[in-house]
Amino acid sequence: MQQKIHSKFVELYGEGGRLFASAGRINLIGEHTDYNGGYVFPGAIDKGIMAEIKPNGLDKVRAYSLDYNEEAVFGLREEDKPEKQWARYVFGVCRETIKRGGKVAGFDTVFAGDVPLGAGLSSSAALESCFAFALNELNGNGIDKFELARIGQSTEHNYCGVMCGIMDQFASCFGKAGSLIRLNCKTMEYKYFPFNPKGYKLVLVDSCVKHELASSAYNKRRASCENAAAAIRKNHPEVEFLSDAKRLWLDEVRERIPQEDFLRAEYVIGEVQRVLDVCDALERGDYETVGEMMYQTHFGLSRLYEVSCEELDFLNKLARRMEVTGSRVMGGGFGGCTINLVKDELYAPFIAAAKEQFAAKFGHEPKIYDVVVSDGAREIR
Ligand code: GLA
Repeated sequence: MQQKIHSKFVELYGEGGRLFASAGRINLIGEHTDYNGGYVFPGAIDKGIMAEIKPNGLDKVRAYSLDYNEEAVFGLREEDKPEKQWARYVFGVCRETIKRGGKVAGFDTVFAGDVPLGAGLSSSAALESCFAFALNELNGNGIDKFELARIGQSTEHNYCGVMCGIMDQFASCFGKAGSLIRLNCKTMEYKYFPFNPKGYKLVLVDSCVKHELASSAYNKRRASCENAAAAIRKNHPEVEFLSDAKRLWLDEVRERIPQEDFLRAEYVIGEVQRVLDVCDALERGDYETVGEMMYQTHFGLSRLYEVSCEELDFLNKLARRMEVTGSRVMGGGFGGCTINLVKDELYAPFIAAAKEQFAAKFGHEPKIYDVVVSDGAREIR
């Protein structure tokens, strides 16, 4: 990938520039908790984005996406917003940097990625974090890593229409090889947990299903949570985010909020606790409990939060039947992957069965990705 990027860069823009990379992410547990001020437990992976970048002395950006084989040229003012969605990510990062008082000099870039799109591995956060990190370095802005993550998040909010939380961009910016990171999304305190479960593998099974309208459904989930939190706050003013609420407090407002919002909130309150339980279990080396929590999360995401789909429920049931230790839909949902914690000896039969049975039912095989927990945003020298 590095070679391809460099050749294209030289062909289009002359002498080469500096090379930056960032990563997609997995999340062991803690789904849809980030924008509720709860815990998440992600890590960066060995699939990501790489970009070669060089200042061009002009007032504009010339960006070439190798994956789309397309160039976009745009200025750096708000009214210069490009048409192409992929270019909006780069543009948004420039704009959000400038809004924070950072300098962004015009630049040329060629970039490419190997995060499967729509798989729930956050290719967009990888792209945002790569450019947020690179522009910070190239322009000597000295913006800290939390703010770099927020630049990516605001890009989603203001230029892509997804009201996402901070998890993906945080994982891309803070990811460290071999460690998962537990983040408290309210206080932004975080802790690295070395993750090397002896005798187990972590594997993603990609249904290759992508649902249209996933972003509006996502924003709707978020609105339901905020609605439930607002109702609870009337009785308990200390509730800033839904994650601050006790289960009992949710019951108190049951009649006052739509049933749908109640179910969403019920899931979130349970999920916040599960992240803590999983971290404790990991410290004891108790992978059975970790796995059981993953199944509980899947149940909640499927029945209460309603972000699963037939294909993902099928993969989850198959995992359960084969006594896979843990399995659940991962990421925003509405398609994408399940994440599975599988005993070494069960790995080959599970993958074989998943491919065969999924293909028999849905007409195509799922894709399989072994998880390698890796570094996040960085310069490659
Ligand atoms: C998407 C969002 C994240 C998070 C997850 C669900 O990946 O970008 O902020 O909300 O969904 O956990």
